[in-house]
Amino acid sequence: MKTPTPTDEQRHLLLEIDHYIERLFVPRDFVFLQALRDTAAAGLPQINVSANEGKLLYLLARIAGAQRVLEIGLLGGYSTMWLARAIGPQGRLVTLEVNEKCVGVARKNLERAGLISRVEIRHDDAQVSLKRMVDAGEPPFDLVFIDADKPSYPVYLDYAMKLTHPGSLILADNVIRDGKVTETGGTDKLVLGIQEFNRKLAANPKLETIVVTVTREGIDGLAIARVKD
Ligand code: DHB
Ligand code: MG
Repeated sequence: MKTPTPTDEQRHLLLEIDHYIERLFVPRDFVFLQALRDTAAAGLPQINVSANEGKLLYLLARIAGAQRVLEIGLLGGYSTMWLARAIGPQGRLVTLEVNEKCVGVARKNLERAGLISRVEIRHDDAQVSLKRMVDAGEPPFDLVFIDADKPSYPVYLDYAMKLTHPGSLILADNVIRDGKVTETGGTDKLVLGIQEFNRKLAANPKLETIVVTVTREGIDGLAIARVKD
């Protein structure tokens, strides 16, 4: 069955609400705005998390007391900046990115924000980096944020399970895709990857999970899973 798409009025209302929340709870921050501007100016896709979702990631990391964070998918470093702020100067954030241009833009953004000293960028195919980390016995992370190529999400979840400990959070962006995940019988590799990921999350007895919807141009979602004690 095909999912109905929101009307212009509905989209308008969702955006108004999102902006209302942002005005109240996400103070304008020059380095964050500049990071988004430079990411766009470099010709990279403007598919970063929203300001409100960034604040949500920040708060989840703070609430969890996360000190070691793994991010899969760096892009221009916008969500990286939110998470790096959350862990404080003693924290460590490892972020995986295959695209050289992204690495260059994000490094500059993180330097300007004074956050680069707590961030390690691993420039390689994420699955190669992840395998290397597992093989090398990398110490577990307190929080993993998945926000990279969607067909690989199920594989990233397998690695996230190996690289976390009881109590860790596993977060994943884009798990609703304007409601397309509710459709059956589709052929879009992106949507199929997310659907398999969501099923895998739900079926994993070691995880307690929910998805919260987030507003952007349309409606997307953030999966929030906690590794059971
Ligand atoms: C896409 C990827 C993202 O991580 C996102 O937040 C939005 C869109 C994409 O590949 O289309
Ligand atoms: Mg995303």
